[in-house]
Amino acid sequence: MADQPLWHGRFEVSPAETLMKFTESLSFDQKLWRDDIAGSKAHVKGLVHAQIISKSEGESILSALETVYQEFASNKFEFVQSDEDIHTAIERRVTQIAGDTGAKLHTGRSRNDQVATALRLWCKRELANIAKLTLELCDVFNKRANEFGWGSDGVYLPGYTHMQHAQPVLLAHHFAAHAWSMLRDVDRLTQTIERLDVSPLGAGALAGSSLPLDADFVANELGFARRFNNSLDAVSDRDFVAEALFDLAMIGIHLSRIGEEWVMWTTQEFGFAVLDDAYATGSSMLPQKKNADIAELARGKSGRLIGNLTGLLATLKAMPLAYNRDLQEDKEPLFDSVNQVGLALQALAGMIATAKINAPAMKSAADSELLGATDLAEWLVARGMPFREAHAHVGALVSKSIRDSVKLSQLVAADKKLGQDAVSLLNPGVGVARRTTKGGSGPVPGVAQASELNAALTVMNARVASLNNARPN
Ligand code: ARG
Repeated sequence: MADQPLWHGRFEVSPAETLMKFTESLSFDQKLWRDDIAGSKAHVKGLVHAQIISKSEGESILSALETVYQEFASNKFEFVQSDEDIHTAIERRVTQIAGDTGAKLHTGRSRNDQVATALRLWCKRELANIAKLTLELCDVFNKRANEFGWGSDGVYLPGYTHMQHAQPVLLAHHFAAHAWSMLRDVDRLTQTIERLDVSPLGAGALAGSSLPLDADFVANELGFARRFNNSLDAVSDRDFVAEALFDLAMIGIHLSRIGEEWVMWTTQEFGFAVLDDAYATGSSMLPQKKNADIAELARGKSGRLIGNLTGLLATLKAMPLAYNRDLQEDKEPLFDSVNQVGLALQALAGMIATAKINAPAMKSAADSELLGATDLAEWLVARGMPFREAHAHVGALVSKSIRDSVKLSQLVAADKKLGQDAVSLLNPGVGVARRTTKGGSGPVPGVAQASELNAALTVMNARVASLNNARPN
């Protein structure tokens, strides 16, 4: 009865069409074929190891699994109507190839531990890939930071708070800020991968098995760091999916902030950057338009990434132990977030790597005298004036400068407390050079920061490379 689900034995009639349509997951869990086969191969070896099946039976199932692997790898695998999910499809095909021996594949195993195993394997590999892509974007920021310089001749732009001109900052410092935030994302991903590196195989449906299965053996076969401690937890735990979705949403939020910045930078009003034609889009109606659609979508996609996380949390809330079919809802949000974040990281990396920076526009915006107001106040502080008083004194000059349309430097020159000596503080670039705090935005701390960022990238690259992310076979 090849057109019946694998569990049909207990039932007297065929499942309703609407049941199959509503409950199937094959349309989206096909992605797990590689991981399901890896899990099955380890399980078969475990069955042989535990002497539940003979060596030759094991070999014939393994060879059928290898055939199935090749069929998938060459796009030749054929699904049939009764295939509910990737797990039943593969088992069905193995049984077709290996006959009665193939029917021993599912001994001591449930789809509950099987799906948790496959999903963890998938996450290990795919999250490691996202970590790698995130590092590539960090690398673009680092390269562009070095290109525009950390020294006293480095390109600078206005730094903003509340989207108002605050103090001038080095463009390198600004780019590096994004690299540092995304290094935290990579750190988070590596920790998520370490935490999820647990094999649920052997937990069975919920309680383990009466057969002498060796969960440590199969965990080791699959390259997991350890096996589950509790079978109920093993089949019902989707914390790792929620965590992955949080990590991805956090990356998405960082990308949305970067996206928003480039949307602004490429406006006529800012004019801080021009996108390469390969990374910009046109308008179907307005011939003059060059739009920053990558940046806008990086901003916009954060909505669904947050939605994917909150949707899964809502699914998990109040779910009783152990496996419930609700858990099948973990896959689509996970696959979607991994896919979207991967695409966004690559598109933004290309866009930022190739964009032209309009250094004179940045410089002229940052050279507005008002951005030197804090330097004037700190100059007075260095000469003994309490900061609050210095702040008020300079504030009054700023207010007068705006009210009377007089240059701040003129008022400073004429001021008894400040005077001609302080005027040079308002000269172009002086404000940038005066920031000396470690980690701050000036050429002095910049040199140290450039090497700190390089060192952090090297460490994180090594950590990601050492993740146990070999493709299962
Ligand atoms: N497709 C299911 C899922 O993704 C596999 C597990 C089904 N288990 C079951 N007992 N019906 O969660």
